[in-house]
Amino acid sequence: MAPAAQPLFADDRPSSAHSEEQAAREDDALLGNPRKSTQRNRFAGWAQIGLFAWATVATIAVVVLAIVLHQHVSAPKDSKAKPSGKRNLIFMVSDGMGPASLSLTRSYRQFVDGLPIDDVLVLDQHFIGSSRTRSSNSLVTDSAAGATAFSCGNKSYNGAISMLPDHSPCGTVLEAAKKAGYLTGLVVLTAVTDATPACFASHVNMRTEEDSIAEQEVGNHPLGRVVDLVLGGGRCHFLPNTTQGSCRGDDLDVTQLAQEKYGWSYIDKKEEFDALKLGSAVKLPLLGLFAPYNFPFKIDRPTSEVYPSLPDMARTAIKALEAATQDSDKGFFLMIEGSRIDHAGHANDPAAQVREVLEYDQTFAVVQEFLDRSEVPGVVISTSDHETGGLATARQLQPLPAEPEYLWYPKVLASASHSAEYLAHELMSFITKPGKTPDLKKLEQFVRKDLVVEGLGIADATDAEIDLILNSPLLSGAYFADMVSRRAHIGWSTHGHTAVDVNIYGSKGSDLLHGNHENIEVGKFLREYLDVDVNAITTELNKKTDSFSISTSNNVGWTGKIPTEEEIKAAAWRQDY
Ligand SMILES: *[C@@H]1O[C@H](CO)[C@@H](O)[C@H](O)[C@H]1NC(C)=O
Ligand SMILES: *[C@@H]1O[C@H](CO)[C@@H](O)[C@H](O)[C@H]1NC(C)=O
Ligand SMILES: [Zn+2]
Repeated sequence: MAPAAQPLFADDRPSSAHSEEQAAREDDALLGNPRKSTQRNRFAGWAQIGLFAWATVATIAVVVLAIVLHQHVSAPKDSKAKPSGKRNLIFMVSDGMGPASLSLTRSYRQFVDGLPIDDVLVLDQHFIGSSRTRSSNSLVTDSAAGATAFSCGNKSYNGAISMLPDHSPCGTVLEAAKKAGYLTGLVVLTAVTDATPACFASHVNMRTEEDSIAEQEVGNHPLGRVVDLVLGGGRCHFLPNTTQGSCRGDDLDVTQLAQEKYGWSYIDKKEEFDALKLGSAVKLPLLGLFAPYNFPFKIDRPTSEVYPSLPDMARTAIKALEAATQDSDKGFFLMIEGSRIDHAGHANDPAAQVREVLEYDQTFAVVQEFLDRSEVPGVVISTSDHETGGLATARQLQPLPAEPEYLWYPKVLASASHSAEYLAHELMSFITKPGKTPDLKKLEQFVRKDLVVEGLGIADATDAEIDLILNSPLLSGAYFADMVSRRAHIGWSTHGHTAVDVNIYGSKGSDLLHGNHENIEVGKFLREYLDVDVNAITTELNKKTDSFSISTSNNVGWTGKIPTEEEIKAAAWRQDY
């Protein structure tokens, strides 16, 4: 590689001001030294409540290194093991799931179900390789650059939604598949306008442009409608700003646009999902938005009357796409994301994460069962865009000379019945309940009994731990998660992403991805498996870009404003948590 890439590796860490105090704070956060409550005045943190805003709860800095200009990429030319006729491809993304998440979940499941050593996850049985995840501007990628590597097969900057570093759009495998006659689908547990799904069916310079992404996904797109089935959350970006529950900046009703102009069937309720009969009663194109933002964590919706499960959404999508391609000489391309594994990592919440990974594993099994029974050849590839949290399945709670213990305790995760995120939400609802001023005794009782004992399954909370929560209710999510993590001896190194290589899983026919690969080689595999021309889509998009516009184009163009470096740094973190 040319020396031009040097800035990425330059030591531009601020060198001054690394005081002992800062070092102590860093150790508190990262190594798990016992916390000292600096604020003995209990309820002093209450003034913060007026500033209460969920999206900005955390206090973490995202480290983004300097810009890289360019890079060279080589990938295998070989395309053996590809079927010659009709085929289906299911691409699964376990957002933020690193290798340690598998070990965590495997042992958790063996513990809870009393299983022997060799009863492993379904994913474990399909392990084929690993993926290197850096983006074009950072050794630590975000989900947007990660998904762009899969969709376009190109490295780009953090925050890019299928845009190249020069801010021109790159064609995606989904768009190319649609053009070639395949049917296409996206199934996720976040907003469908979130980075991973967005990268397959839209193009914007910054992942924060979710209003534009929503429009593009239904068909206000230079190529017209490119998706046939969308299931997930994120309804708020489809509703006009005149409606309750909208988070759009304008008054466009995207659900109406979708139905009237592009022919979508639109549903937003679990009953309507149930009426699809797991796919046998679907009319495509189908847009199903079952949550205003993200789905709740699986641990908070074990058997939900409000939200479909990921395996059921996968079954529905597969069956619908299979039926609709029955008489076609082309099959389908479906992307399924286990979206909130990442969020459990950001929250450093191992009890929430094991349930997310288990649900993802069950979804992989659903896909594998389909491939086993289908007469049409097909392949499933599953990988992650990056690791989140720097998860470690062991944690030394006391510094040397204390001895490290060789263990971690799955039982602690099994005892929790809610996520830290849910319990923090409960706490804020309790505090901000309109009407009367909070009764401090009642509040403490609520925290100890309802949240900590019943929610976390923790009966031995210390006064210091309860004090932390009462003093800083806005940070209670982090404290709840830490109480679980410490007791389970589970470690975390960050509330953000890390650069660790992530695993690749695949069914028969995925031989080309055996071994260690750059993430763009996964993208290359997808297009080559489907035998579609993504470069031709890039050319077409660029040809149409000047004459095309949508409601959010204003005077900056349909792909949105070009972000500053500061905006690039800020967006990766803010959007993800
Ligand atoms: C994007 O990927 C394609 C296909 O691998 C390659 O031909 C092209 O040069 C890449 N573009 C950039 C800007 O890296
Ligand atoms: C709603 O959208 C319209 C334009 O579509 C805009 O003029 C108006 O300011 C928006 N209202 C709010 C409250 O954002
Ligand atoms: Zn993330």
